[in-house]
Amino acid sequence: MRILTGIQPSGKLHIGNYFGAMKPAVELQEQGDAYIFIANYHAMTTVQDAAALREMTTDVALDFLAAGIDPERTALYRQSDVPEVHELAWLLSNVCPMGLLERCHSYKDKIAKGFATMHGLFAYPVLMAADILAPQANVVPVGKDQKQHVEVTRDLATKFNNTFGEVFTIPEPSIRENVAVVPGVDGQKMSKSYDNTLEIFMEGKPLKKRVMKILTDSKEMEEPKEPEGDNVFALYKLLATEEEQAALADRYRAGGMGYGHAKIELLDKINEHFGPMREKRRELVENMDYVEDVLKAGAEKASILARETLNKARQAVGLE
Ligand code: ADP
Ligand code: TRP
Repeated sequence: MRILTGIQPSGKLHIGNYFGAMKPAVELQEQGDAYIFIANYHAMTTVQDAAALREMTTDVALDFLAAGIDPERTALYRQSDVPEVHELAWLLSNVCPMGLLERCHSYKDKIAKGFATMHGLFAYPVLMAADILAPQANVVPVGKDQKQHVEVTRDLATKFNNTFGEVFTIPEPSIRENVAVVPGVDGQKMSKSYDNTLEIFMEGKPLKKRVMKILTDSKEMEEPKEPEGDNVFALYKLLATEEEQAALADRYRAGGMGYGHAKIELLDKINEHFGPMREKRRELVENMDYVEDVLKAGAEKASILARETLNKARQAVGLE
């Protein structure tokens, strides 16, 4: 089974990204032949600053390697190192009705938010289809927001196969339904757009300051408190064992513990969980040649498959 997913390099990764996207990506490696790429072409639809795009692309590579992507098992690569996807996207464009793209929620949402109606943004799902079809992936793990794009991919692959003959494997989406929405320090969904994040690789005083800012109700120290629904407890739950969760819940309900204490417990858990990853990341930063080699090797592995598919597709349409 060939599993493929892409992640846009769009800022410092936070605990929400970790539980929603990174941890599942690391777990993928156990399930089959994994391809994980950094979608820097796609990021261009929103990031138009060369230095920022370069830096964020490298950051995502470092973050994923630090979080446990094993390059021996997984091809980790930059999308732009497999430019074959663009030729494939053109071939797919010619079996792609405008209406299919006009119905895409993510396009409509971006336009509603005031983004300009660029062709890149409109054609985004066609490039995503090429990303998936080029290495003939069977399974595409994504968040709910990307489900429609995988459906577009299936439509385009089927249309192409019906028109020109069997070239593409039809991929299945694997939707992460059961991933909890991680709350930010203000209790809304943690998101870099809301400036409410706890970054994975932030540490020391700046991290402590962020944790201390987590919004709680204003109960006094002596008062009993309800853990369910409290933001500090919700974050603690993601990182603690069941016994630890039960013990902290008892202390909430007994009274005599302030939210400040609960925040320190949470901070300890964050440091315990992410400490080893931060250490690994520091080592990787000292060894950027290695990181570059990993990305190049991943791209070479993906390119072999992409070239094979592209040759078949070129034959099928009559370019060869
Ligand atoms: P952001 O909202 O910070 O811009 P993205 O939209 O770039 O994050 O999300 C990248 C990935 O992280 C997606 O797979 C998304 O489902 C996941 N993710 C983002 N925020 C959260 C959150 N608060 N809880 C769970 N998963 C999240
Ligand atoms: N559009 C995806 C996102 O924003 C990223 C992506 C690009 C992707 N190409 C892909 C995901 C191919 C899965 C497969 O999250």
